[in-house]
Amino acid sequence: MNKKIVFSGIQPSGNLHIGNYIGAVRQWVKGQNDGLNIFCVVDMHAITVPQDPKTLAQKSREISAIILAAGIDPDKSLLFVQSHNPDHANLGWILNCYLSIGQLNRMIQYKEKSDGKKFVSVGLFDYPVLMAADILLYGTTEVPVGDDQKQHVELTRDVAERFNSKYSPTFVLPEPKTPKAGGRVMSLIDPTKKMSKSDPNPNGAVWLLEDPAMARKKIMSAVTDSGSEVKYDWGNKPGISNLLEILNQFSDVSIAELEKKFAGQNYGQFKIAVADVVEKFLVNFQKKYAEISESEELESILKEGAQKAYQISHPKLLGVYKKVGFLGQ
Ligand code: AMP
Ligand code: TRP
Repeated sequence: MNKKIVFSGIQPSGNLHIGNYIGAVRQWVKGQNDGLNIFCVVDMHAITVPQDPKTLAQKSREISAIILAAGIDPDKSLLFVQSHNPDHANLGWILNCYLSIGQLNRMIQYKEKSDGKKFVSVGLFDYPVLMAADILLYGTTEVPVGDDQKQHVELTRDVAERFNSKYSPTFVLPEPKTPKAGGRVMSLIDPTKKMSKSDPNPNGAVWLLEDPAMARKKIMSAVTDSGSEVKYDWGNKPGISNLLEILNQFSDVSIAELEKKFAGQNYGQFKIAVADVVEKFLVNFQKKYAEISESEELESILKEGAQKAYQISHPKLLGVYKKVGFLGQ
């Protein structure tokens, strides 16, 4: 068996919510005890759509601190900012030359993100190729991503296969690893929709860095369903089912046990319990976040992460240069 090598990227844009924490960052933390685990703040992906420069730099730092506060341990995992390792852009360019426009035209996310926009950058179209470079530079075996990114990982496999068969085995074919059912936190105001960074109504999500008292209010006013029983039933009670999942994630008490515990109690009492755990989580999380984000250690963690990443990626890139026929230096 090959060593497990995990790579995942997160964009430094928007605010992270408890769905990102439960569905993504916490899964990374759980998996970091074996194999090599690499997490990248993908600022180069972020500029495929307009960004304010100051905000982008701040967000890269903020998201890095959030990942560390959530429990990514720099002694176990690599954390770095994409633009700190030039190999990503360099391999991305080369991979561009081994994928067709037709293949990229089939990317659903591109269609969604470009739809109705006046200005669509070439970068937005090319985004999945840079993502393929991110993944292939490290011999990645597993890519934890949401469902929407699966197609990009398939494209990564396609370009790796094409390159391997044209030259010789060079790239490992990665597997996408999507979260199991239950890893989807739904909106508090419309539990049939995913909690989302881009939801125009801020009350649908609990943000990781928001005032815990505000988060409490949002939970208390979350949409619930008709009836009065606390039951896990997505078909008839999506609002309550979503809150049960949130409570389960933050308390580690099983949903079946929670149903028993709240039998005979009303929605209001149940919501207080959910609000309590979420508020407590945010208070603790934000304490850790503040410590990390105020310390200069963050810069050295990111610097070291980028250096270690480069040590892995650069020999791979040089091997690729040789295969395609670039003159050695
Ligand atoms: P995004 O917020 O779409 O950039 O996604 C970043 C990561 O968080 C991806 O791995 C998503 O699968 C995960 N994620 C986003 N929204 C949710 C949600 N509502 N529930 C669970 N995971 C989510
Ligand atoms: N495209 C991913 C997203 O929008 C972010 C990303 C960039 C990524 N490079 C990656 C994810 C490599 C996994 C692996 O969420």
